[in-house]
Amino acid sequence: MRQEQPSPRHIAIIMDGNGRWAASRGLPRVLGHQAGADAVRRIVEASCELGIETLTLYAFSWENRNRPPDEVRDLMQLLDVFLSRETSTLMSQQIRLRAIGRLEELPVGVWDHLRYVMAQTAPFKRMTLNLALSYGGRQEIVDAARRLCEKVCAGQLRVDQIDEACFAQQLYAPDLCDPDLLVRTSGEQRLSNFLLWQSSYTELYVTSKLWPDFSKADLMEAISEYQRRDRRFGGHTPASSPRSAPSVVLHVTAADGHPC
Ligand code: FPP
Repeated sequence: MRQEQPSPRHIAIIMDGNGRWAASRGLPRVLGHQAGADAVRRIVEASCELGIETLTLYAFSWENRNRPPDEVRDLMQLLDVFLSRETSTLMSQQIRLRAIGRLEELPVGVWDHLRYVMAQTAPFKRMTLNLALSYGGRQEIVDAARRLCEKVCAGQLRVDQIDEACFAQQLYAPDLCDPDLLVRTSGEQRLSNFLLWQSSYTELYVTSKLWPDFSKADLMEAISEYQRRDRRFGGHTPASSPRSAPSVVLHVTAADGHPC
């Protein structure tokens, strides 16, 4: 009999459907995003209760910057309010806040606020809440390639030393394991430039629920479905993901001692 998967260590979520949630109620989009922010609070709490190690939320994509200025401003304001309101909860629940993306592209006040909350919560280990902000998977790969080129040009790295592990060290959060499960709400079946490198062997789960309606029960259903999956990582028999395994290499050093 096939064994069930253990619970996912890292869940990533594409939080989609705020606009449709609002439209179906005849409300302005901003209220959909506000309801989406309430769902963020619920799902962070639920993930913590369920013992998830890392929760990565796609909160603002690189491409979302092209939305109308009013909507971008509303989203940034909601993020700022979230940071103000939730810091005490993050601290009382021992949740570490992190962020990935081209964070320097965020409005300066939001970036400062984010840095402050990340510093405040840095010691916590119960769960990591990782917000993808001004984030794009292609942009992350380009940024990693640029950093490697800089190291090669500076004579700190040889081209023949670049392998998958070395490349992965240049991603925004190389110490986080790859997501085991990627959930997308609202029924769309695409990755939308989210965690392209890290999702090579991630299990995908799409639900028609719109993000503001996504509940703890929905999260538990996604986890149960994940546990019934047979993860083979390209092999024949179920195995553990190399980056999900506890023996994950955190700091790769090239053969000649140069750090990747
Ligand atoms: C997609 O819905 C969602 C977003 C573009 C942003 C997600 C933002 C939140 C959940 C709220 C704020 C976040 C935090 C962390 C406080 P959509 O507008 O594309 O929906 P639609 O496809 O139905 O139009």
